[in-house]
Amino acid sequence: MKLYGNPIEGDRIEPILENIESPYLPTPGIIERALRVTEKEKFFTVTPLSPRLLDYRPGQFFMVGLPGYGEAPISVTSAPGSAKTLDLCIRAVGNLTDAVHRLGKGDWLWIRGPFGTSFPLHEMKGKDIIFVAGGIGIVPMRSLIKAVVREHGFGKKTLIYGSKSPEEMLFTEEMEDWRARGCDVQLTIDKPHPEWGGNVGVVTTLIPKLKVREGKTIAVIIGPPVMYKFVILSLKGKLIGPEHIFVSLERRMRCGVGKCGHCQINGCYVCQEGPVFKLSELKDLPEAI
Ligand SMILES: Cc1cc2nc3c(=O)[nH]c(=O)nc-3n(C[C@H](O)[C@H](O)[C@H](O)COP(=O)(O)OP(=O)(O)OC[C@H]3O[C@@H](n4cnc5c(N)ncnc54)[C@H](O)[C@@H]3O)c2cc1C
Ligand code: FES
Repeated sequence: MKLYGNPIEGDRIEPILENIESPYLPTPGIIERALRVTEKEKFFTVTPLSPRLLDYRPGQFFMVGLPGYGEAPISVTSAPGSAKTLDLCIRAVGNLTDAVHRLGKGDWLWIRGPFGTSFPLHEMKGKDIIFVAGGIGIVPMRSLIKAVVREHGFGKKTLIYGSKSPEEMLFTEEMEDWRARGCDVQLTIDKPHPEWGGNVGVVTTLIPKLKVREGKTIAVIIGPPVMYKFVILSLKGKLIGPEHIFVSLERRMRCGVGKCGHCQINGCYVCQEGPVFKLSELKDLPEAI
């Protein structure tokens, strides 16, 4: 059963889609797979009817909506260029995301984008890369990790990923593949847990053990706001400077295209100039971190 806002019949929609260039107009995507992955998160594989939506890069986001429920920015979690589908992983926290969680295979989502800046893969080539993800920050990080591990030309790759508990960890079954492709995956949980034999403590507890090649290492941080300051301090202790640190910032968004001002930090529109920033670009925006 199709629950919300199904588009008109497929044989009539394609000529219309070809003419849609406006960033304000969503286009439909059909849900091919909807899988509950944790208590709060559901993973969706979506085929967009407009192939333009597949032209995305790691770090970018889409505005995902349902008629009557509104829209929300959601990061792409699949690697670009690998399929005719998009992967999205959505945490149910409110009006729109709760409604999306009620959808299943064969239902439709309405999607605009891709929007925002992305991680500069070309700049990362030849460098060691440290991915630091906290909580749901692993969702956009997955797109970047998948893009990096499938290509040659990067140095040593290390993922440090922390969550509150083992039950909340995402994508653990895929991490064997990331390991096999040369990524050292280090996991941690915040507090001791009877079924956990690994590291306990916040992500910063794993940073002092890292071997870092000065000037040849790039760090990428995505996580809850509280995490950034402490991770940046630890990385600076490892002599990784702001020119070599990338962050993705989450701010409230409404239009996604620089018109409404909801995402503004002083004069900076995160939907346009971000969400991916080099830390050195934020030196005049202390409110950002
Ligand atoms: C660039 C970007 C990428 C994102 N990627 C993802 C993703 O891949 N998966 C995912 O699950 N979520 C992601 N989010 C967060 C997601 O957009 C929000 O959870 C969503 O907007 C909530 O919408 P809602 O209508 O369900 O909740 P609402 O009913 O609007 O709000 C529910 C609660 O969430 C709070 N809230 C709403 N938006 C935000 C926000 N941006 N930051 C902090 N608190 C908020 C509200 O204050 C309220 O307490 C992303 C956000 C940004 C800016
Ligand atoms: S979300 Fe509207 S200006 Fe950025």
